[in-house]
Amino acid sequence: MLISVIGCGYLGAVHATCLAHLGHTVVGIDSDRELAARLDSGRPSVYEPELESLLTATLATGRLRFTADPSAAAGAEVHFLCVGTPQLPDRPAADLAALDSAVDALLPYLTPGDLVVGKSTVPVGTAERLNDRIAAAVPGASCAWNPEFLREGHAVADTLRPDRLVYGSAPDDERATAILNRVYASVVAAGTPVIATDLATAELVKVAANSFLATKISFINAMAEVCEAAGADVTVLADAIGHDERIGRQFLGAGLGFGGGCLPKDIRAFGARAAELGADRVADLLARVDEINLARRDHLTRLATEACEGSVIGRRIAILGAAFKPNSDDVRDSPALAVALDLQRRGAHVRVTDPQAGDNARKRSPELTVVDSVAEAVDDAEAVLLLTEWQQYRDLRPADLTGVRRPVIIDGRNALDPTTWREAGWHYRAPGRPSPTRQR
Ligand code: UGA
Repeated sequence: MLISVIGCGYLGAVHATCLAHLGHTVVGIDSDRELAARLDSGRPSVYEPELESLLTATLATGRLRFTADPSAAAGAEVHFLCVGTPQLPDRPAADLAALDSAVDALLPYLTPGDLVVGKSTVPVGTAERLNDRIAAAVPGASCAWNPEFLREGHAVADTLRPDRLVYGSAPDDERATAILNRVYASVVAAGTPVIATDLATAELVKVAANSFLATKISFINAMAEVCEAAGADVTVLADAIGHDERIGRQFLGAGLGFGGGCLPKDIRAFGARAAELGADRVADLLARVDEINLARRDHLTRLATEACEGSVIGRRIAILGAAFKPNSDDVRDSPALAVALDLQRRGAHVRVTDPQAGDNARKRSPELTVVDSVAEAVDDAEAVLLLTEWQQYRDLRPADLTGVRRPVIIDGRNALDPTTWREAGWHYRAPGRPSPTRQR
C-alpha cells in the first residue's frame, strides 16, 4: 500500500520505518526539514535500540523516504497522523495545535476514499471533530483512530509485535477496519488481537491504559511510604502481591516514580478532559496519582539530605542516570534530572552521568555538570544517587566506586542488593526499604 506518515518524531519515525519494513511504500513527512533530512539519510534523532539498523535497511529497499514537503502525501491511500500532543504551557491539558496544522497541511492532497488514521494521544472527542472536518472538505475521505502503545526503548518490537491493535471508526465508516487490516496484514496474521470499536472508545483506550500504568506505579509508591514508616520492605511486598496473576509484578517498581513524554502529560490531559465531561472522580483520582508521583522526587532529595547529615550545601553528589528510564536518551520530565536540579538549587555540587542521555541533559539543563563516565561522576563524591536503572548501574559493585570520599549510596530505583553494599561498609538507603537503624 502507499502510505504517508505525518509527523516523524519518536512515534512517526518508528511507525514509518516499521510499515515500510512490513512491505508498504511509505513517505514520512515532517515540517522540520532538518529532521526529515536526517531520517532520510538513515540517522534517527533519538536513541532507540534496533531503530537505526532497521531504518538503514528499509531505506535501502527504496520503499521508505522522508521529506518536509506535504505534497508528498498525494497519492497515498492511508495517512497516519503521528504528531505530538504535548501539555499546554499554562494548563494541564493537551495542546492540539500541531495535530490541527498537520490536518490543514494534508487536506489539499486528500482524495475521495483516502483514510486518515490518528495515532497521537488526544482528548476524547478529537477524532470525531477531525472526521467531520475531513469528510466535509473531501467527501468520501474519513478519519479513523488507531492508538499507539509502544514503549520507548522497545519501540520497534512493540510496533512489529504489539499486544493488541485498536481501531476506532465512525458508525458510517464501513471501510476503515478492512483498510487497517490490510495495513497490518502480517501483524494480524500473527494472531494479534484486533479490537474494532467507535472513535471515542479507541481514544479512551489509550489514555485509560496510560492512566492505569501510572496508577499502578503510584500505588506501589504509596505502599513504599507506608513500608518506610513501618520498617517494612516494599520490594518484597511487590514480589509477594505480584505473584497474584490478577495483580502482576510489572509496573510495581517502587522508587523515584514515572516521568517521560507520555504518562505525566497524559494523566493531566485526561484529568482535564474528564473534568470537562463532568467525570470529576476520574480527575480527582489522576490528580492524586500525579501528586504521589511528584512527591517521590522530594522524598529522594530528603533521603540524600539525611545521608549528608542534614544539609547538602557544599556537598559533592554523584547522580547516575539522567534519562527518564533506561534504554532511552529522553530527558523529558525526567525524575532523575528533577532531583539533580533540586539538589543543585539547594547548594550541592552535583555531577550527573548517563550512558546515552548526557547530551540531552546538557541541552535541557545547561546549569548542571554532566560528565561522561561513572568514574568522573563519583570522584570524591560524598553521596552517590542511582536515579535511572541502566543495566550497567544495576551491575555496579562497591569495588567499582573506589573514587568516592564517603561510601554512601541512595538507590532511587531499588535496583541494587542492599546486603552487598552494606556488607562492603556502605551506607545504603532506598525508598520503601527500612533504614539500617529501623532494621536493627
Ligand atoms: C508509556 C507506556 O508504557 C506505553 O505503553 C505508551 O505507548 C507510551 O507511554 C506512550 O504513551 O507513548 P514510556 O513513556 O516509553 O511508555 O515509558 P514506560 O516504560 O511506561 O515508563 C514510564 C515511567 O514509569 C518511567 O519513568 C519509568 O522509570 C517509570 N516506571 C515504570 C516506574 O517508576 N516503575 C515501574 O515499575 C515502571
